[in-house]
Amino acid sequence: MNVFPDGFLWGTATSAHQVEGGNVHNDWWSFGRTTAGKACDFENRFEQDLDRARALGTNAFRLSLEWSRIEPRPGERDEAALAYYERLLGACRERGLEPVVTLVQFTLPRWCAQRGGWLASGTLDAFERHVRLVAERLGELARIFVTVNEPNVLAGAGYVSGVFPPGRRFRPDLAEDCEDALAEAHRRAHRVLHEWLGDVLVGASPHLVAWRKTLLDPLGLVRREGEAFNWRFLDAVEDELDFVGVNYFMGLRADPLSALGFAGLVRRPVHAGTSDMGWPIDARGFEEVLLEAHARYGKRILVTENGIADATDAKRPAYLAEHVAALERALRAGARVRGYFHWSLVDNFEWHEGYVPRFGLYAVDYATQERTLRASGELYRRLIGERSPAPVSA
Ligand code: BGC
Repeated sequence: MNVFPDGFLWGTATSAHQVEGGNVHNDWWSFGRTTAGKACDFENRFEQDLDRARALGTNAFRLSLEWSRIEPRPGERDEAALAYYERLLGACRERGLEPVVTLVQFTLPRWCAQRGGWLASGTLDAFERHVRLVAERLGELARIFVTVNEPNVLAGAGYVSGVFPPGRRFRPDLAEDCEDALAEAHRRAHRVLHEWLGDVLVGASPHLVAWRKTLLDPLGLVRREGEAFNWRFLDAVEDELDFVGVNYFMGLRADPLSALGFAGLVRRPVHAGTSDMGWPIDARGFEEVLLEAHARYGKRILVTENGIADATDAKRPAYLAEHVAALERALRAGARVRGYFHWSLVDNFEWHEGYVPRFGLYAVDYATQERTLRASGELYRRLIGERSPAPVSA
């Protein structure tokens, strides 16, 4: 029996800074070793890329709006940027791709970062003004919003490992402040979007890890930290969540070394059971995380990211099939999963790791911007085709 509910969203996920190119006004442009540069030149190629998304048989597409493009200087609104996003969202709609629109995917306008970013007073007000503008100018084209992508990663990478801007290290206190500010940003965005747009769906997408008990954590301290990493943000905004966004990539042993590896503070070993980035493959953990999200909140769930860095595409097909099977088991067990977005449509700029990790269903040759469908892309099309939705009461 097909357990996928009617209207299930099958999609791919992207984010502005990772694909668009030329986002010179944000805090990532001048941060770290590699500049995103032209990235995938998505800004100029989105129509063909959306055709590619459509060719996979998907009916939804996740993208993010680059705040620094829309507001390059405080209070200044870039009409060309708004027109670009209007075209992009319109192009999704023309192709029958339901856009899922992320408001914050790691980047901040540089002027905002220079004032202290998410820790500065004034940022939340500026963000709220930005969300109002988005609602007013682009809101008619979108019904599903992710306010903040991976607030837990953004806070930890910005203030503990320092691999994301502002590059502070070993300040868990500030990471917590940052996550609290992001929770408040979520609440405000949730309110503004509903005020302007009525009955839209507004959620947030933390990065969730399946933490595995080990003897190396006898008091369960690492596991407790891991659980807080997963759920602290969602617990804080539970009353203002229309759906739970789940970004799931890996399972990890809850021991000090793998926790440090996850935080980017020590090297992660790469072997047969991991991605090219040393992230352990764990499809059963995906099922468990979905069921836990269901047990905790009982809300609709959208899997807003799931994928693997795998340059040769040797592991991605099995990863994809096993994770879709895990999702299916979670649906059977009652989790209200209403969408799955594979990360990512095309290879793209992987933050501090630059262009080495390859997450795309389409490979990108960055010298020519040529895209080539990987075998896993073919498989995704087949998996979607075999699960043509049957009506089910919500
Ligand atoms: C983020 C993406 C990132 C991907 C792979 C998440 O950490 O939301 O921006 O590219 O997963 O690391």
